[in-house]
Amino acid sequence: MAEVKKIAVIAGDGIGPEVVAEAEKVMKRVEEVFGYAFETEHARFGGIAIDEDGTPLPEETLRICKSADAVLLGAVGGPKWDSNPKELRPETGLLAIRKELGLFSNLRPAVVFDCLKDASTLKPEVLEGTDLMVVRELTGGIYFGEKFRREGQHGQEAVDTCVYNETEVERIVRQAFEVAGKRRKKLASVDKANVLETSRLWREVVNRIAPEYPEIEVEHVLVDNCAMQLLRRPASFDVIVTENMFGDILSDEAAMLTGSIGMLSSASLGEGSFGLYEPVHGSAPDIAGQQLANPIATILSLALMFRMTFGYSDAADAIEKAVAEVLDAGHRTSDIAVDKSTAIETSAMGDLIVSAI
Ligand code: NAI
Ligand code: MG
Repeated sequence: MAEVKKIAVIAGDGIGPEVVAEAEKVMKRVEEVFGYAFETEHARFGGIAIDEDGTPLPEETLRICKSADAVLLGAVGGPKWDSNPKELRPETGLLAIRKELGLFSNLRPAVVFDCLKDASTLKPEVLEGTDLMVVRELTGGIYFGEKFRREGQHGQEAVDTCVYNETEVERIVRQAFEVAGKRRKKLASVDKANVLETSRLWREVVNRIAPEYPEIEVEHVLVDNCAMQLLRRPASFDVIVTENMFGDILSDEAAMLTGSIGMLSSASLGEGSFGLYEPVHGSAPDIAGQQLANPIATILSLALMFRMTFGYSDAADAIEKAVAEVLDAGHRTSDIAVDKSTAIETSAMGDLIVSAI
């Protein structure tokens, strides 16, 4: 009997509960097929927590997350809370939970499924074989540096500061080397070392650490060039590691290689094996409660959890293979269906994936 793994499950708002329900079915199937054991504990977070607990991130939710081995999150937010003051907005909860759980990196795979190549705006032959992972630093850089306004000689001046220390760079770079070691062993470190001091430090740290991972092939790519190469030769990338703002932009660019936001998974990691796994998309209030959402992003996020936090590669591979099979057989939710009249519901997609595992 496998050790029981504790998973905190946060459904959230909008389509969150619908897509998380399908991932939970997959979890049960993995227990049956592979003999693993999961214990789930549900927690309130985001808009629903604002309504019921008066805060987006209740103490109880934080306690449940901290006592778990991993967190599965749906999505939070919606128009109902948009005009709330900052401390009563779901997005404030998102920043707080990452900080409280010490999650300093965000990993986003961008995989082009063969049968969905037509869904992208790029030519199929350019996309052929694209399977990359963007590792973005999440808690440092210009988003978190000191920011202020002052009166200058030419009117108002606005200042944003970008600060990175060696420790922050080293921990994310090491994580990226580890991830690359479990993949195709290629790492592209993206910076702007020709103009930015933080980028020069970044590059020094990468070069200092690289000899410890002799099996990994490292290339330094300037961020503007990387933006071009992602469109020109996406299949040549394996792991891309970069600082917060560059990662924000490049991960969205990479996401668009694959077609639909309903297919994109993510992991947020800190020290050790703990991680928070969630689809890239939001709560999609426009389609909530109608069984229209694509649950694949959430199901693939669960696969990432199995691989990265638990080391259950067999289960992760099986889920990813099942998703590919179901798509190959022509099943589509409406976001990825060419002919919308043939689209299937959220739960039907979940059931098909479950049966394929
Ligand atoms: P969104 O990702 O929720 O939706 C954008 C578009 O994609 C919509 O047309 C939606 O119907 C569609 N879409 C999203 N996920 C889908 C899925 N699984 N299947 C099929 N179609 C899907 O982004 P939007 O509209 O900008 O934000 C809506 C709310 O979600 C806002 O309150 C926002 O703050 C929140 N949000 C939450 C995130 C999180 O929980 N991590 C991330 C992004 C946004
Ligand atoms: Mg973004």
